[in-house]
Amino acid sequence: MSATSSKIGPKIGIVGLSGSFSSPSKTRALAEEAVRRAATRFDKSAEVYDLGQLGHELGHARSFADLGEEARRIVDQIVQAKALVIASPVYKGSYPGLFKHLFDLIDPTWLAGKPILLAATGGGEKHALIIEHQLRPLFAFFEAQTLATGVYVSERDFADGRIVNQAVLDRLDRAVEQFGPYLREPRQQERSLAPVSHLRLHQEALAAGF
Ligand SMILES: Cc1cc2nc3c(=O)[nH]c(=O)nc-3n(C[C@H](O)[C@H](O)[C@H](O)COP(=O)(O)O)c2cc1C
Repeated sequence: MSATSSKIGPKIGIVGLSGSFSSPSKTRALAEEAVRRAATRFDKSAEVYDLGQLGHELGHARSFADLGEEARRIVDQIVQAKALVIASPVYKGSYPGLFKHLFDLIDPTWLAGKPILLAATGGGEKHALIIEHQLRPLFAFFEAQTLATGVYVSERDFADGRIVNQAVLDRLDRAVEQFGPYLREPRQQERSLAPVSHLRLHQEALAAGF
């Protein structure tokens, strides 16, 4: 990311960001599960970060440049990734204030066109629409390509820090599949288009009188 001044590490295919400080964290577990499935499905490198890794400078930063070196490196990874998984815990019906503050420091152009799987965790089901009413509008501001299926996970869907509700895991797979147009290699895309091309060739041959 040329707009940033931190050291740029190797480009990661799929980067997950958990908007939680907790450790252990259900939100981080959700981000890790989504990133693991996406990386396996599309054979990409992957990394997951959380707000706790951005350092104490985050709360005081007035601009991106005020962030610490590690935080700037993480933002570089986020901005350069081919795809993102962004997961947030619900705090008072919305995302945590510092999660929003991180995105307040990001240039409006840096996430344009980025495919993003949106996910959230909450204590119960009441605020499941955080994805549609809070997260999706935020990333619409950045002109990102949020995937149609968001994944909300409540406390009862977890056991021992892992998601145990199969319906949730199935929904996660459905969401991950929607990365396809962005993460499939061109050759894979050609292969999946092959039947259409053959049909077209056949129609062209017929039209030409063969
Ligand atoms: C300050 C605070 C506010 C919360 N507000 C809500 C809320 O409005 N709705 C809800 O369903 N859960 C709420 N919760 C519960 C968390 O969203 C839930 O436990 C979440 O899974 C925590 O994720 P974590 O393990 O990554 O911290 C709140 C938790 C905290 C600490």
